[in-house]
Amino acid sequence: MKAYYLVRNGAADKAFELRDLPVLKPKAGEVLVHAEAFGLNFADVMARLGLYQDAPPLPAVIGYETVGRIAEVGEGVTNVKVGQRVVALSRFGGYAQAVITDARATMPIPEDMDAGIATCLATQYATAWYAAEEMVRLHEGDHILIHAAAGGVGIALIQMAKRRGAVIFGTAGSDEKLTYLKSIGVDYPINYRKVDFAKEIKNLGFDKKLDVIFDPIGGDSVKKGMKLLTAGGRLVTYGASSMTDAKGNIFKMIGVAKGFGIWSPIEFVTTSRSLLGINMLRIADNRPEILGRCINSVVDLTAKGELSPVVGKTFPHTQLAEAHEYLASRQSIGKVAILW
Ligand SMILES: NC(=O)c1ccc[n+]([C@@H]2O[C@H](COP(=O)([O-])OP(=O)(O)OC[C@H]3O[C@@H](n4cnc5c(N)ncnc54)[C@H](OP(=O)(O)O)[C@@H]3O)[C@@H](O)[C@H]2O)c1
Repeated sequence: MKAYYLVRNGAADKAFELRDLPVLKPKAGEVLVHAEAFGLNFADVMARLGLYQDAPPLPAVIGYETVGRIAEVGEGVTNVKVGQRVVALSRFGGYAQAVITDARATMPIPEDMDAGIATCLATQYATAWYAAEEMVRLHEGDHILIHAAAGGVGIALIQMAKRRGAVIFGTAGSDEKLTYLKSIGVDYPINYRKVDFAKEIKNLGFDKKLDVIFDPIGGDSVKKGMKLLTAGGRLVTYGASSMTDAKGNIFKMIGVAKGFGIWSPIEFVTTSRSLLGINMLRIADNRPEILGRCINSVVDLTAKGELSPVVGKTFPHTQLAEAHEYLASRQSIGKVAILW
């Protein structure tokens, strides 16, 4: 069994090496999955660039989600059986042909579910579900803004918000993505490279009228977003993609961190607005049952056809570097997945 090890930070073609994996044995509560596919997430790009504080020390196998079959179960595992096809979230270790993970983050999937579609579920769809269904409750007519709307988490949020009847503003960085967003029901697609998203929303007549903002960009995007919220409004922050623009420049990185703003609970009370944070790794570590519930919900709704994950592109594993550069190029729409 082999795995792609992240051996150095920097360009994708020099960053990964295919190496033998040690023999893996699941402990109590764990499962061993033999993989057919794995997914890429933007956090992997940040880990490759050395911008992700939770990434393990190098050399390391990164990656959060695996699709494959249960090869072995540890003591006490009852929710899945040997031979079953599953999607699983792992705390790193995903870029591998064999993955050990917590059984509670492992869900059976239909035999006929496309492997690429399944890679969307354990991280991007589970994160979106946690954000849009557990942390925040969307209601018909709510005005919501989704940043990086054409990405993996973004498309999942759009589908979940449409199920609830929300009015959607979505940002993306190209006109091709804007056309796509319109086609999947985004009411107000905004190209943030051409216009300032906050000014555009004000020009459209929605200043201080947004109920919920989903923000993985971070920095001053959060500060600007908070000013657009109405009473009862919530901003969910779950990433800092703008750190990639800082390109390791410590002063720019401090600028991004400061850009989030300094918030006082008193202001939240007086204006009745909230700032909420998500880190799914912390949820996986401390409340794996919540993560299991989220994965279960999105697997179920996908199998029923109520959610339709979008795979932008799949690559054979020999093109992992190209896949990474593609995701980093910010051209991708939906999921980027790798087939073994
Ligand atoms: N907190 C958590 O637990 C958690 C879990 C999952 C994902 N996330 C975060 O959610 C975000 C989306 O993840 P994903 O895997 O679904 O990736 P993705 O949205 O499929 O791809 C990233 C997209 O973000 C946009 N982007 C990248 N850098 C940007 C920048 N500097 N400024 C503005 N936009 C930028 C680009 O699209 P456009 O430029 O066209 O908009 C790019 O295509 C990431 O920030 C990720 O770290 C967080």
